[in-house]
Amino acid sequence: MKKVRLAFLGAGMRALEYGYYAIRHLNKVSIAAVADPDESKLNLFRKYGITNCFASWQQLLDLPEKAADVVIICTPDNMHVEPARKAIEKGYHIIIEKPLSPKPSECAELGRLAQEYDNIFMVAHVLRYTKMYSLMKKMAVEGKIGDLVTVEHSEYVERIHYSHSYVRGNWRNSGSSAPMILTKSCHDMDIISYLAGESRCKSISSFGALTYFNEKNAPEGAPEFCLDGCPAKDTCPYHTEKIYVYGRNEWWRSISRDKSREARRRALEGSPYGRCVFRCDNDVVDHQTVNMEFENGVTAVFTMTAFSKAGRRTKLMGTKGELEGVFGETGSRQYIRHFDFQSGKEKKIILPKTLDTHFGGDDGLMDEVVRMVNEGVNKSKTSVETSVHSHMMSFAAEKARLEGTVVDVRGFEESVIGHAGESGK
Ligand SMILES: NC(=O)c1ccc[n+]([C@@H]2O[C@H](COP(=O)([O-])OP(=O)(O)OC[C@H]3O[C@@H](n4cnc5c(N)ncnc54)[C@H](O)[C@@H]3O)[C@@H](O)[C@H]2O)c1
Repeated sequence: MKKVRLAFLGAGMRALEYGYYAIRHLNKVSIAAVADPDESKLNLFRKYGITNCFASWQQLLDLPEKAADVVIICTPDNMHVEPARKAIEKGYHIIIEKPLSPKPSECAELGRLAQEYDNIFMVAHVLRYTKMYSLMKKMAVEGKIGDLVTVEHSEYVERIHYSHSYVRGNWRNSGSSAPMILTKSCHDMDIISYLAGESRCKSISSFGALTYFNEKNAPEGAPEFCLDGCPAKDTCPYHTEKIYVYGRNEWWRSISRDKSREARRRALEGSPYGRCVFRCDNDVVDHQTVNMEFENGVTAVFTMTAFSKAGRRTKLMGTKGELEGVFGETGSRQYIRHFDFQSGKEKKIILPKTLDTHFGGDDGLMDEVVRMVNEGVNKSKTSVETSVHSHMMSFAAEKARLEGTVVDVRGFEESVIGHAGESGK
């Protein structure tokens, strides 16, 4: 097997996850190049002997020779389209982080370009590659529950994760970023459409709001920054000191590379992560439901909430039985419960613990790319067409929520594609 050479465009959290795969699979991949304007992030890779480092994705993709077999686009959401176009031009295989773009017209345009492309172009819809969803899909396809009729799927974001990313962090404001149903839950739209038989979604409705993380719930006298003497320090679970200075070893403490308490306290000064969760410029929902009807007649309901422990739970209900899959905190066990109507018997399948942060999804996606590059094929669980469709489901759900309507998804897609055609090239 040929070792596949990877180049990371953006060396943040996601690149580190892929880097972690590389460290554990030295026989399959090597990191050939990394680009990021942040020297401290490049230095992390230099520590592992990666010296082919660049200050921007442009510099890396402008090299006269290809620096790697596969580029992984891990730049911020609004910086995916241009590197993807350039990487296509240069003939790289491409893994691109979700979402393709915060704008529906750009998703459609990029999707069209990628479908005409012979090399690999894969959106990192990692849930498809988790042990749990892979097995649920296999069991459903094998007919273990007869014909699928109903899908129930929930994403429990977890309150501190929510406060970090969607109140204080990068994805807090739909104007500067995009709606939550895209930035977080396009994974969920994708896995629902995958499990629903890869049928197209026909109609969609949605409800949801930002109910809690707003000014009206601010403790009396709370300053803009928690460390400026908040009177609710002992009782507020979102006080920055609890989360970032004294919190356990969660990934959100990466606000500071220096892990000492003093450094973490300093990192909060003037930082968006230092702010009171009730006094931020956030506007994305903290809970949302989506109802969907697919062209094959399957109906699905999705719930996203901040107010929970972490995890996802999915139930597939068919004419001959039901399947329920559950996973919780990162690193916890995943299981599937299968109930068969005919025998009346229930079986619980406990899945092995995985090492990556996505329940085997990151590893599964990378293994698939390594296999495809080696075999010279371009057929995976994730096609560009289905990825673009699940992005469109997210945009359609947001339109339905904002307008209080039921959106005809095909009509919505046609309007976006028409718009992309007009605005594009
Ligand atoms: N598939 C998933 O499950 C999943 C999970 C989390 C995030 N994401 C997505 O992955 C992407 C990256 O997220 P992240 O959490 O790693 O963010 P991050 O902020 O940690 O990393 C982004 C990096 O891009 C760098 N960057 C900015 N401009 C650049 C340029 N011109 N050239 C090269 N690098 C540049 C930044 O300095 C930063 O280090 C986002 O689109 C995010 O939505 C996907």
